[in-house]
Formats: sequence, structure tokens, C-alpha cells
Amino acid sequence: MIPELKIVATADGSNTIYNPQVGENYHSRHGALQESRHVFLGTGLQYFLAESGANQVSVLEVGFGTGLNFLLTAEYCTSNQIKLDYTGIEAYPLTKEMISQTGYEQYVPVEIWSAFMAKYEHSLKETVNLNPHCQLQTAYCQLLDFKSDTQYDVIYFDAFAAIHQPEMWNEAAIGHTVKFLKPGGVFVTYAITGNLKRMLKAMGLQVQKVPGAPGKREMLRAIRCADMQV
Ligand SMILES: C[S@@+](CC[C@H](N)C(=O)[O-])C[C@H]1O[C@@H](n2cnc3c(N)ncnc32)[C@H](O)[C@@H]1O
Repeated sequence: MIPELKIVATADGSNTIYNPQVGENYHSRHGALQESRHVFLGTGLQYFLAESGANQVSVLEVGFGTGLNFLLTAEYCTSNQIKLDYTGIEAYPLTKEMISQTGYEQYVPVEIWSAFMAKYEHSLKETVNLNPHCQLQTAYCQLLDFKSDTQYDVIYFDAFAAIHQPEMWNEAAIGHTVKFLKPGGVFVTYAITGNLKRMLKAMGLQVQKVPGAPGKREMLRAIRCADMQV
């Protein structure tokens, strides 16, 4: 349990969590829900599905936190009959009690929320099925300790901002993350900096500057080229 975490409201009325040790919110203060829908669902997941025409998708999230990105992704995949295999990496998992105070049950159908609440703690130990479409695993480890033989279609990179946690945005962390991206896969994050663009380009990804969520003009999407060596 992380001490002194606080639930705080963001500008679109949805809640986030403030971590005083880091000095940062888990989501944008301009709107947690808006950010999650725009950056991860719209610019990441829906872009990948539209481009690929796939009816199944694997997602890796760096910084699982409250599970908001997962919940919205699970809702989208369930209502569109898309098979979802979701892995969230989280070094400091929130308690179920803390997640239950976010109010996020209002953004997804009750069946998805109830299954998530019932199975969240199990997902820290093994893969769980939320429903016939969605499976979840929460890898309880530091990003650099995450190991997998799987490569993913979409990566949601949702670390705390570089100003607060620079070690999540250096070459070791980003290089370790994109190793898990399939050729043709999509990496998205809410931030865009010259350094991040240069790093991803040098790793062989095709970098796109795309419109950001409210409060941020731009964000980054990068595509792993088929012949990239990582
Ligand atoms: C910006 S918050 C993520 C918000 C989350 N996606 C959500 O929707 O609630 C960043 C997350 O990264 C986690 N984190 C911090 N350092 C980490 C590390 N080294 N490896 C993995 N996760 C880490 C934090 O505990 C926090 O949950």
C-alpha cells in the first residue's frame, strides 16, 4: 500500500489519484477519462484495429495504476466482439479498496466493473478471464524486470511524467518496452518530447506527432516497422 494517496477530481469530472511521494496525478488534471479515451483508446487501440482490420488484439500497458485504460479497452472490445489479451505492468499495485473509490464504475457496464473488482487481485498472480472476450494479467514488477515471450499489438505507455520519473523515459526503459511490440504494432503515450522522438526513431520506429488530449496540443504515436531490429 502506498501511503497518503488521495482521490482528486479532474476537469472533466472524472477522478484520478494524487501520489504525494511522486508529486503527480495518475492522469491529466484536464480530465482523466478524456485522456484515457483519447490517448489510449482512440489513438492507440482504435487506430490499430482500423488499420489492421483485426478481430483480436493484445495490449501491454506500462503503469497499470487504477485500471482505467484497461476498463475502457475491455468495454470497447466486449461491445465490438474483439478478443482482448491485456497485460498491465505495475510496480506498486493499488489496493482493491483504493480502486473501488475511483468512481470508474460509472464509465463501463456493471458486468465489466464487477468482474474486474472480483478478479483484480487474482490478476496480480495469474491470467484471469473477465468474460469470454477479455483476459487480463497484471505483472507485479518493475518495468525493467518485466519478461515475456509475447509481443503485443499495442503498447500503452502511461508512466508518470519524465520530470517526476526520468528513469521511465530513458533509453533503457523505452528500449526494453518496445522490444515487446510486434512488427506493425502501435506504441502510444500522452507525452511528446524531442528526446523521446529521437530515441524511438533511432530504435527504428516510425514516429507520428498527433493531436493530444485536452490540455496537450500533441502526443506521440510510433509504429514498429516490420524489419526493425531491437
Ligand atoms: C501515470 S500512472 C498510471 C496511470 C494508470 N494507467 C491509470 O489509468 O490509472 C503511472 C504508474 O506507473 C507505476 N510505476 C511507477 N514506477 C514504475 C516502474 N518502475 N515499473 C512499473 N510501473 C511503475 C505507478 O505505480 C503508477 O501506477
